[in-house]
Amino acid sequence: MELGNHTRVKEFVFVGLTQSPKLSIILFLSLFLIHIITLLGNLLIMLTVTCESRLHTPMYFLLRNLSILDICFSSITAPKVLIDLLAERKTISFNGCMTQMFFFHFIGGVDIFTLSVMALDRYLAISKPLHYVTLMSNGRCLGLIVASWVGGFIHSIVQICLLLPLPFCGPNIIDSFYCDVPQVLKLACIDTFALEILMISNNGLLAVLWFFLLTVSYTIIMVMLRSHTGEGRRKAISTCSSHIIVVTLHFVPCIYVYARPFTALPSDRVISVTFTVISPLLNPLIYTLRNQEMKSSMRRLHRRLVPSAKELALG
Ligand SMILES: *[C@@H]1O[C@H](CO)[C@@H](O)[C@H](O)[C@H]1NC(C)=O
Repeated sequence: MELGNHTRVKEFVFVGLTQSPKLSIILFLSLFLIHIITLLGNLLIMLTVTCESRLHTPMYFLLRNLSILDICFSSITAPKVLIDLLAERKTISFNGCMTQMFFFHFIGGVDIFTLSVMALDRYLAISKPLHYVTLMSNGRCLGLIVASWVGGFIHSIVQICLLLPLPFCGPNIIDSFYCDVPQVLKLACIDTFALEILMISNNGLLAVLWFFLLTVSYTIIMVMLRSHTGEGRRKAISTCSSHIIVVTLHFVPCIYVYARPFTALPSDRVISVTFTVISPLLNPLIYTLRNQEMKSSMRRLHRRLVPSAKELALG
């Protein structure tokens, strides 16, 4: 092995979202706005769930978990992308790149596992309504959340451990605007075919199987709901369809990016933007616009907070 002879690249250079200065400004403004709305929307969800005691149920605690994850996930890529849109040289240090990849997959993994816990929670609530409270106790729910974090960590650390020892000797141009496994793996100065297969199974196959599993679960839930009646049924259908939309919009770009050989396609940029910037915004959008219980809680919270602000102003 002659790996010792190579000097490892110190930094990577992003091709970035666009070369045009005009488009850069437009993208900067729109992505900045989206990022701010994502942060505020998710904070609003967290605030509402925390302040409204009637939302103190596993389902809404899980939603609050998801909001935290969305804030973290969008903060892994968005600030760097925004800075780079205004910068002439879009570089990232080797360690910075590895760190970004680690957190991207760590939080992304936890996100997907948390969505699964949400599916399980709905499944138990609908299939075993009488035992739901004992089956989904606070302790057990917390256990599932901890398991999600452990799962995300393992999913991510495995990839980083495989990538770190690779020789990165020459080309350091990343054909993207953030560091991710497919683009970085391509820059290694060895034949990465076997590794590529491994990474596709770790990411792509996992995403496909998981999406399949979740789709089947929600189909079963929807079929079970056919025998229910009245208000409860309407509410359950509304909740589950929100979950299905969130799950679909999370998984489809993810599958598109990872479940194929790592060759670049022209549409990749658009999909990557959806994946990194838009999907953390989905929860707040879907839950604030579609979920009746959430909407009425927000209105109550608003009424509670606004008068007190007036009183404050009046001294
Ligand atoms: C995450 O979910 C667990 C389990 O329901 C809950 O105990 C915890 O408070 C949640 N964390 C946040 C920050 O919402």
